[in-house]
Amino acid sequence: MKKLIQTRRDFLGTAALGAALVPLVSACQFDTVAESAPKDKLDILRANGVQDPDCEWCGARDVPDDVRWKARLHKDGDAGERLLVEGTVYKEDGLTPAPDILIYFYHTDTEGLYGRRDQHRHGRYRGWVLTDKNGKYGFYTIKPEPYPSRNNPSHVHMTVTGLKRKEDWADSILFEGDPLLNDRDYSAKKGGFKNVIELKKDAEGILRGTRNLRLWPV
Ligand SMILES: [Fe+2]
Repeated sequence: MKKLIQTRRDFLGTAALGAALVPLVSACQFDTVAESAPKDKLDILRANGVQDPDCEWCGARDVPDDVRWKARLHKDGDAGERLLVEGTVYKEDGLTPAPDILIYFYHTDTEGLYGRRDQHRHGRYRGWVLTDKNGKYGFYTIKPEPYPSRNNPSHVHMTVTGLKRKEDWADSILFEGDPLLNDRDYSAKKGGFKNVIELKKDAEGILRGTRNLRLWPV
């Protein structure tokens, strides 16, 4: 039931959801070191994604061919505070790094909205990463704003898909200090570790935080 509650909670407060599908926004290829995943691996991950085209929360099946362990969602000149989230995905023991885990994530823009008019329903700020051999991932983006109704704290949605794991959601990334946080947000467990993350601004003015994940039984 929690999934349904979260879905309703997430989307009822969203003022503008684009209905039409458009070409997907790929994670930018800024990382020239890591190689993209082989096609056979991606085919399995896509197949393990939710296939329902009306699914409101998922996106693994649309992963682009050039997915890497790090992604950049924002464009130069975008409004908003720069944000970098990094983390490690661990297996169920919480200790062993989990490679080849596909994470799909998306969040609102600086007005607290997702898709507008001809955009994808999840808007511009969406992307995919595939954990490296050490289970690591990261993404650059802008800090999302709460929904205009301000009935939820700022958040970044995440889904998790593996080669032997169907796509499922993990508790969203939230941010320490957000006045809209409540006790329920601090009690989130799906994905383990702490999903309310602390942000610190680095020398380049980028807010940095860490969101680790522990896989759950399937
Ligand atoms: Fe949301």
